[in-house]
Amino acid sequence: MTIDTTHLNQQMTHFDDHQEIWLFGYGSLIWKADFPYLERRPAHIRGWVRRFWQGSHDHRGTPEAPGRVATLVREPGAVCHGMAYRITPETLGPLDVREKNGYLRVVTELHFDDGPDDADSRDGTASASAEGLVYLATEDNAAFLGDAPHDAIAQQIAKAHGESGPNRDYLLNLATALERLGHHDEHVISLASHLSGEAS
Ligand code: SIN
Repeated sequence: MTIDTTHLNQQMTHFDDHQEIWLFGYGSLIWKADFPYLERRPAHIRGWVRRFWQGSHDHRGTPEAPGRVATLVREPGAVCHGMAYRITPETLGPLDVREKNGYLRVVTELHFDDGPDDADSRDGTASASAEGLVYLATEDNAAFLGDAPHDAIAQQIAKAHGESGPNRDYLLNLATALERLGHHDEHVISLASHLSGEAS
C-alpha cells in the first residue's frame, strides 16, 4: 500500500504569510513533542471525537500488519481535548513527513483550556481561541480502517510494531497523557483496558 500525503500538505498556502502558527495535537502530538515549539497550551477543538480508526503502516505497524492510530471523526456537540503548540512555519516540513501516512493539514478553530472566556478576550496573545492547524486523516484516505469492536482493535494494537516502536506504547502513552491533563476519553480508556487483556 502506497500513501504519502507530504506533497499535498506542502501545497497548502493558508498560513503562508504567518510568522507563527498554532498546531493542535490530539494523538502522538500530545505526548511526543519532538519538534521545536515556542509555547504549548492545553486546548480543545469542538465538533470532533478522537478515534483509533486510522491505519499505521509506518510508525506503529507495517504494510503487512498495520497498526491503529488516532484520527478525528465529526460529531456535533463533541469536544476533543489535546495540546496546542505555537510553532514557526519551518517546523511544518518535518511534521508533514511524520504525518505522511494519510494525514492532511486542515484549518481549525482551537480553544485554549486556560484562556479567558470568549467575552473577555481582547488581544491575540491572551485570546481564548485561535485559528490553527490540525493533521486529520479522513475516511477517504487509503490507510483509513474505520470502526471495529474494541476487543478487535485492542488485539490489532497488541500485535503491531512499526519503525517508531510498539503500537501498544502509542495507545498507553496517549491514555497517560490525557489522564495527566485531566481528561476522560471513554474511547481511549476502553481500548487501553481491552489492551491490558491482550498479550503483546
Ligand atoms: C496528532 O497527534 O495530532 C495527529 C495524529 C498523530 O500523530 O498521532
